[in-house]
Amino acid sequence: MQPEDFETIDWRFDEETGVGRIVLDRPDKLNALSKQCCDEIIEGLEAFEALDRQGLYEEDDGVKTRIVVLEGAGDDAFCVGSDVDEFHDVKPGVFNFNPMFTRVEEFPAPIVAKIDGYCLGGGLELALTCDFRIASEDSQFGFPEIQLGIMPGDGGTQRLPEIVGPSRTKELAMTAEHIDAAEALDDGIVDYVHQSADLEAEVVEFAERIAEQPPLAVRSIKDAVNISQETNLRTGRYYERRAGNWLTATEDHEEGVEAFEEKRDPEWKGQ
Ligand code: COA
Repeated sequence: MQPEDFETIDWRFDEETGVGRIVLDRPDKLNALSKQCCDEIIEGLEAFEALDRQGLYEEDDGVKTRIVVLEGAGDDAFCVGSDVDEFHDVKPGVFNFNPMFTRVEEFPAPIVAKIDGYCLGGGLELALTCDFRIASEDSQFGFPEIQLGIMPGDGGTQRLPEIVGPSRTKELAMTAEHIDAAEALDDGIVDYVHQSADLEAEVVEFAERIAEQPPLAVRSIKDAVNISQETNLRTGRYYERRAGNWLTATEDHEEGVEAFEEKRDPEWKGQ
């Protein structure tokens, strides 16, 4: 499917800055995740990767996608989790959104969650899967699943403890309590909180600060830090050393050194 055919997300790419954007576009349902929406998020990420693959064949052109912003349409919600209306069709053991979350986590370039409003259930899990979370001061966070007799099932009980510890995770998931953006900032669940009116500009500024960096190094840092969360120090250091060595063979490394010596701004090619 081509990006122009998406029905539940809006997909954009800014050629100038290399910043991509996926907007969950179901504001009437507070951007709840339907199966179609999950499929289109995967396809949207694949569309960015297809842009990168073009760089394989062009001598002066490397990877294109520098960073992606993921947000919800409107200012009521980032995402309120699974579309409850689809729960009637659920087949236990078969129904599974996990591939979408895995694709977000493993996407080669960083992804920033721009959160304006409710960030609940699978919406919070989706935000936790992103590399960065920047929220408006009106946002609310929580795991309401227990009120439906279920539990977070897409990483919530696994990723949140890394940030807030096991007991705080249990409290949030067992009580369905909503916390506000200030508490989420205190807990480390979000990286920054801004006034709603400033959120877009702040997210763009943040994204462009990373988009200006050499993309292969940015991607390698993402991988190395993610690996550090899942492995022992020895294995992580092995990966880090390999990735670091590999970067020294890139054109961007050569360009960075030349630009430093010539006292000019580097021009990154992403190769
Ligand atoms: N799935 C499908 N539709 C949802 C939804 C969800 N997870 N969450 C909200 N909606 C829909 C509502 O049904 C409503 O639709 P309607 O206008 O056709 O009735 C619309 O979004 C607005 O929601 P509403 O409840 O009227 O807004 P609110 O501001 O009063 O409350 C919430 C917002 C998020 C607190 C409340 O909607 C809620 O608790 N949603 C369920 C969240 C949830 O349990 N997520 C985890 C699922 S596993």
